[in-house]
Amino acid sequence: MTARLIDGKSFAEGLRIRIGTHVERLKRDHGITPGLAVVIIGHDPASQVYVTNKARQTLEVGMHSEKYELAETVPEAEVLALIEKLNADPKIHGILVQMPVPKHIDANRIIATIAPHKDVDCFTPESVGRLTIGLPGPVSCTPLGCLMLLRDTLGSLSGKHAIVIGRSNLVGKPMAQLLLRDDCTVTMAHSRTTNLPELVGMADIVVAAVGRPSMIRGEWIKPGATVIDVGINRVPAPDKGEGKTRLVGDVEFAGAVERAGAITPVPGGVGPMTIACLLANTVTTASLIHGLVPPSDLTP
Ligand code: GUN
Repeated sequence: MTARLIDGKSFAEGLRIRIGTHVERLKRDHGITPGLAVVIIGHDPASQVYVTNKARQTLEVGMHSEKYELAETVPEAEVLALIEKLNADPKIHGILVQMPVPKHIDANRIIATIAPHKDVDCFTPESVGRLTIGLPGPVSCTPLGCLMLLRDTLGSLSGKHAIVIGRSNLVGKPMAQLLLRDDCTVTMAHSRTTNLPELVGMADIVVAAVGRPSMIRGEWIKPGATVIDVGINRVPAPDKGEGKTRLVGDVEFAGAVERAGAITPVPGGVGPMTIACLLANTVTTASLIHGLVPPSDLTP
């Protein structure tokens, strides 16, 4: 069997078009332009690329965008004051502080200062609690993207056995919560799990988010399973020439594609979904702030 490739790039394009339609409706019917503020501290090149892409795509779907670039040495108090200002700004419905932040800044204090109703990353304890008990609000962006791809591939997830490999606050834990809400039986695995091949072999759905290149071997995958690979790892590619590299996921793709029913490629699978889901969350928070029901196709 050769797996069907799950095309996250094309799904994200379609999602952005739907987001654009919802933004138009919010403007036309309610006079609301959803606004997203992104804050970056320092000059990490990868973070710069992410933040530039976030700001550009925000404008492309018709939303209001603000970008704050702060110096590497900015005092923490200045960052907190900016967040307080954005919390109180009626033009802003979503606030994102790009992680990681420089060492002299306490990321937890930054997160705790973001108003939960503008927390489009779903980082604050209040947002995480709401996600866990199923109340409306923003949903962690990458897990939301994975859930959308899974539902699109499989329809109902009810009764399926899912394994989530990786227990990060950013991906693994919220992913498990979303799969539970969709009536999956969920196994959480991580770096200390001893019988990973056996557990992966029992799963109808595999979500790999460990950050270790090709760690999940193709031969472990249950025939016909759906594989969502969140990993983006840069590895040497001597076959492409000296010093060249390529991106690979956490799943050994060549082996897995022969056994799975459907699989996300790296790149072009989960990656493009994350920013699209950030925009979806901004429509959700803008709707909730104004007492409107968020569009049902943008939130679980
Ligand atoms: N750094 C890497 N991924 C993310 C993300 O999803 N949100 C924020 N704020 N920072 C990140």
